[in-house]
Parts: sequence; C-alpha cells; structure tokens
Amino acid sequence: MKPRTARTQSPKPLLLANIGQLLTLRSALARPGPRRGTQLSELGIIENGAVLSLGGKIVSVGTTKEALRDPWIKKQSKQLTEIDCAGKVVVPGFVDSHTHPVFVSPRLVDFEKRIEGASYEEIASAGGGIRSSLDGVRKATKTALISKILTTLNDMAAHGTTTVEAKSGYGLTLESELKSLEAIRDAGRQWPGTLVPTLLGAHVVPEEFRGCSQKYVEIVCKEMIPQAAKRNLALFVDVFCEKGAFTPEETEQIFDAAIRRGLSVRAHVGQLSETALSPFLRFHSASFDHMDHVNENDIAQLAKLDTVATLVPGANYFLGLKTYPDARKLIDAGVPVALATDYNPGTSPTVSMPMAMSLACTHMQMSPAESLSAATINGAWALRMADRKGSIEPGKDADFAGFNAGDYREIPYWFGADRCVLTVLGGVIQSSR
Ligand code: NIG
Ligand code: FE
Repeated sequence: MKPRTARTQSPKPLLLANIGQLLTLRSALARPGPRRGTQLSELGIIENGAVLSLGGKIVSVGTTKEALRDPWIKKQSKQLTEIDCAGKVVVPGFVDSHTHPVFVSPRLVDFEKRIEGASYEEIASAGGGIRSSLDGVRKATKTALISKILTTLNDMAAHGTTTVEAKSGYGLTLESELKSLEAIRDAGRQWPGTLVPTLLGAHVVPEEFRGCSQKYVEIVCKEMIPQAAKRNLALFVDVFCEKGAFTPEETEQIFDAAIRRGLSVRAHVGQLSETALSPFLRFHSASFDHMDHVNENDIAQLAKLDTVATLVPGANYFLGLKTYPDARKLIDAGVPVALATDYNPGTSPTVSMPMAMSLACTHMQMSPAESLSAATINGAWALRMADRKGSIEPGKDADFAGFNAGDYREIPYWFGADRCVLTVLGGVIQSSR
C-alpha cells in the first residue's frame, strides 16, 4: 500500500525563485540512510536559490540565475506559476512522523489538574488521561472525525508540515479503531499533503478489560491488526509500551502479529520509565519514540541500526517536566534522531514543527541545523519515505515550506508564533499569509 496523497489533478508547473536561502538537505552520503552525528548539520544551502516542480515532483534545483537561463523555463513562462520568494527561506516541507489527530475534545480538566500538581500517571489512574478520550471517539460519526482531522491537517500545513503520520488509538474497540483509520484515509484523500496511517489499538487497556489485559491484546492481534492489514488501512502498528499501558512481552506479541500481517512497527518507549529495547530489535522497528529514559547499552545497539529515535519535546513541555530526552547523548553516539509534534490532547496539543524544533534547541542542546534535519529528512526516514520526502532534490515530491526570514536559524528562534508564509504540498500551494 502506498501512503496516501490526494491528487485531484496534476498540479501546474511551479517555480519558486529568489529564495534567499534554499535548504535542500541533499545527500552527500555514500550509503543512503538516516542522518547521524555531524551529517545532521549538512543542510545543502543554496543562496539565491530556485526550485522547479512539475506534476507534483521536483525537476530541478539550483540558483535563480541558472533557472532564469533555462530554455525550458523561458519557453513555459506562460504556463508556469512563478512565486517570487523575495529573499525568504525555503526548506523541505516538515515531516511530522508522530501524531494522534483522531480525538474529539481537548482534555482541559487534566490540564488544570496538572497545573495543581497531579502527574500524568496520577491523572490517568484516576480515570483521566487516554481513557477519558475514548467515549468521544466511540460516539463520533466518521464524518465528524474526518472534519476534525482535516482541520488539524490544514493547521499543520499552515506551520509548514506536508507529511503527517496519523495514529488511531482513542477508540480501542475493533469498530472504533477501524472507524478512526477510515477517517484518516478519507481525510487524506481530501488533503493535498501526504498522510501515513498507523494502528495504535494498543494505546492503553480500556476499562472494560481492566485486570484481563491479555484478552484485549488478543483483540488487537487477532482482530484489529488482521482487519487493518486486509483493508489496507494502516502501514504501521504502534504500541504504548509503558507501566500502566502494555508490557514488553505484550509489545512483542503485538509486533509479531503486525509483522505476520505485513505491517511495519514503531513504538512509544521510555516515555515515563526505562524499557529495555533489546527484545524489540528483531522487529526492525521504523522508529522508537519519546526515548526520555534509555540505557547506554541500547544506545550503542541503536547506533548500528536504521531505527530512528523520534523525540517529541512538546510532550515534556506541556507536562511541565524538568527533563527532556538526552538528544546530545543520542546524536553523539550515532543514533539517528527525528523530531515530531506528538500532537494529541493529553500531552502535546501543538501542530507546530517549528515549536518542536525550538524546544529541541533550547532544552535539548540540538543546534538549529540538527533540528531542521530531524524535522525533515530524518522524519522521512522514520516513516520509511526518504525516497520521496524530506529533502529538495530532483525526483522527490514538491513539498516546501517558506518562512518570512533571512536565515533558517530564525525558524526555531521565533517561538510561539512561527513565520511560515508559504506551504507547497505535492506541488499544490496550500497556505500563504
Ligand atoms: O505520545 N504516550 C502515549 N500517547 C500519547 C499521549 C496520549 C494522551 O495522553 O492522550 C503520547 O504522549
Ligand atoms: Fe504519542
């Protein structure tokens, strides 16, 4: 199954010219793979750049001078949509590789309780948390969910995001998980960006299975995964492996079922407590996400693999945590690191990748350059889509984000209200302020 990209008609040829800084993120690597260590700082910047796309694909990348001399561009000038970027910054559209957009209501009571001092775990065990979002999704119509997801996607695009991984996980019955995945599919058909669906039936054990989690795991393995695979509704299966959610043994069981049905896996690990990762390495997980608590041994193992560590500092910020994932340790050890929003109603209600980058710079000692690679090309690797996404190179999808800035470092610098003024999704201009 291919990730979903809506294509109603082939987009017109598009030329972005006079780009002050064009961040191509092009690869100089001998062996293709996610960026590690110093490779995260190689941005492939072209000053006064231009990029031409045709039918939603990039065809040439260079300087504006070269583009203006190009005979094809000269000949096509009438058919061409030309955008004068007037010295602004253009980067590859962000790849938000970890989001939970299928929910109905914000969790404002949890928000207030936390301000009063309750922890995420305390709120969850008192009936708040993920379980309190289930009722809304179970009762919602698919149409209502589609419209909710689309609003979120458009909001994300307005902040420069063009590819989104979207998880189910707030229904937790066979019927409502499939409804959530169908809503993701249908929203993806109406959005010009690219949506990657993930089944997160193993988000928590719902109340009705309290004390008999194994029965619920069987439903995930024997009903949800087979149905989602058979109906092409998911590319990935995710598990929240954590105390109070699913054990490492249950995670292995769910991963086994996913692999048997031809789906790839990813997992929430080490968010609240340390989980040993070695039992999971045999599944070739596309990504391990959160990674606040990880041991040295696992870091050394991960450095040898293409599994991406996806860090989601929005969750640490919103939960008011004093600590953040140790990005420096991971990067310096050679682990490929991505950044994502983790957009969800409980721990990270933000659609903004520039905000995630800003938090990475201010709280995780990542440089602006590292944060940009992590939000683009390594996000693409975390979704196994680096052949199409994450850099501005001929043959890749025409996904761009333009910022009202003269220097790319301003993207994480201006926090709280980012300066995205132009988003191009598969050659389609979606938002410009
Ligand atoms: O990534 N940890 C599990 N899932 C989400 C939180 C979901 C929620 O609280 O609604 C996360 O932080
Ligand atoms: Fe999450």
